[in-house]
Amino acid sequence: MKEPLRKPCQCIAVCGAKGGAGRTSLAVNLAVTLAKQHKDLKIGIWDADFQFGNVNMAMNLLSTLSIKEAVDAYEHLDRLLLSRYLLRHESGVRVLAAPPRPEYAELITLPLLDKVMGLLAEELDYLIIDTPAGFQETTLFFMERAASILMVTTPELNSLVNTKAMTQTLEVLGLKKQMKVVLNRAGIDSVLQPSQMADVLQANIDYTIPDQWGTASKAIDLGIPFTTVYAGTELSRAYLRLAEGLHTGVSERDARGSLLARMVSLWNRKVTV
Ligand SMILES: Nc1ncnc2c1ncn2[C@@H]1O[C@H](COP(=O)(O)OP(=O)(O)OP(=O)(O)O)[C@@H](O)[C@H]1O
Ligand SMILES: [Mg+2]
Repeated sequence: MKEPLRKPCQCIAVCGAKGGAGRTSLAVNLAVTLAKQHKDLKIGIWDADFQFGNVNMAMNLLSTLSIKEAVDAYEHLDRLLLSRYLLRHESGVRVLAAPPRPEYAELITLPLLDKVMGLLAEELDYLIIDTPAGFQETTLFFMERAASILMVTTPELNSLVNTKAMTQTLEVLGLKKQMKVVLNRAGIDSVLQPSQMADVLQANIDYTIPDQWGTASKAIDLGIPFTTVYAGTELSRAYLRLAEGLHTGVSERDARGSLLARMVSLWNRKVTV
């Protein structure tokens, strides 16, 4: 019997110019939120921080299975074999973990990435890729194939300046239209007013995730995504908006704009009646 037609896998690359901006927290919590919202869809995370990836720790997945198994099985790797190397989180999210030792990163070649990418795209509806900071050959590979590139930044001036530089490079590479800026830890002390941040970035801020340090760092250390334990908090609501925006293609900023536009048009109607 024919499988019912499904939408092609949506690949979302989580990137950023500075370490510690919150890419792993974002990848994990976005995946769990999507899995909760869309129980009929298969959601996966590929930990592409091949030297020091910690998605498995952030989700308390204790198995040592990782992409290293796919490296070893490269010649006869197929969809079924790869699916055995995926870790399964209680939310339903599948994880292709980073290798257990940093030196194994050397073994990960572009042809391997290409093969694994094709197989995961057949298996999943959403593939979220957690990348290391900055541009690396492997990160560029994912950026070029992603439907959305989430550029994660924080409100500090140097984080915004580095993000601007990375954004400009994306523009040169013809990848800027896929990019959405996520301002993580919004609300922490910064020399800039919120209204000045987009000016420094020379780009719009599409999504904002509030700072909730205690909750977020405890969650990552305990391996419990905060959107599971702290549902209903402002932080979880921000993730719902992000997941919804990516699913519908209408970002938080677009929604704000259209709300504003609606309010203005309602106001104009009231004035002219
Ligand atoms: N919204 C938030 N509010 C407060 N703290 C946060 C938030 N998001 C992430 N953090 C914290 O920031 C720290 C870095 O987060 P995370 O590991 O996700 O960043 P990263 O960009 O993946 O870092 P790395 O460069 O090491 O890969 C963690 O302690 C995490 O708990
Ligand atoms: Mg990380």
